[in-house]
Amino acid sequence: DDGLHPPQYPWPHKGPFDTFDHASIRRGYQVYREVCAACHSLNRIAWRNLVGVSHTVDEVKAMAEQVEYTDGPNDQGEMYQRPGKLADYLPAPYPNEEAARASNGGALPPDLSLIIKARHGGADYVFSLLTGYMDPPAGVEVREGLNYNPYFPGGAIAMARLLFDGIVEYDDGTPATTSQMAKDVVEFLNWAAEPEHDERKKYGIKAVIILSALTLLSVYVKRFKWSPVK
Ligand code: HEM
Repeated sequence: DDGLHPPQYPWPHKGPFDTFDHASIRRGYQVYREVCAACHSLNRIAWRNLVGVSHTVDEVKAMAEQVEYTDGPNDQGEMYQRPGKLADYLPAPYPNEEAARASNGGALPPDLSLIIKARHGGADYVFSLLTGYMDPPAGVEVREGLNYNPYFPGGAIAMARLLFDGIVEYDDGTPATTSQMAKDVVEFLNWAAEPEHDERKKYGIKAVIILSALTLLSVYVKRFKWSPVK
């Protein structure tokens, strides 16, 4: 059972000329941090990666400083705790896989860094998963500790529904509906999986413009050179 095929949504960054919606990435970071980060790591993202993407450098420094990191050994050979800095990676909720499974009834919450690329259906799938919880249809039994979700392959997922209207409060005033939060966290996770996305599209446009100009120039030169030949 592959799971219900998700609909295709009009993501802000979908078109060939479209970059990510950075206000949405900012809201999505908030959803990740306040909701998902309780169980899911984001191993490939360092604090500094957020600078200029979703937050200012001062905001990111302040967010990093609120997290304690273990560092060392120091001159006395001891490990010590210190506040986070820009170069640190976002903190993981569990020290290791055993601890993660023990807290989640045996299931492992995957690292979300590349989840948008790793799962068939990408952003459409994760959005549908987050908003797709419902009662199982008549006749379908869901094992204790699992939750019915038709988008999850197999239909029974260890992660319960987490997004409910109003569980976060956005500082830009956007109403935090379930679907708004799902859209924003997916936009954020899509950025995390493809941080080079905006640059890539900008270079792509430049390449098309320059190569078109060179093509036209070569056509003109060729005609000019050959014009005396009958
Ligand atoms: C699995 C996203 C919050 C526990 C997953 C998967 C995604 C995801 C994309 C992978 C599904 C798949 O394998 O196709 C999110 C997002 C969250 C969030 C975006 C925040 C909005 C949480 C929280 C918990 C949690 C807070 C723990 C209370 C799990 C577990 C799995 C999982 C245990 C594995 C499910 C299984 O394999 O049956 N999550 N998650 N998640 N998540 Fe979350």
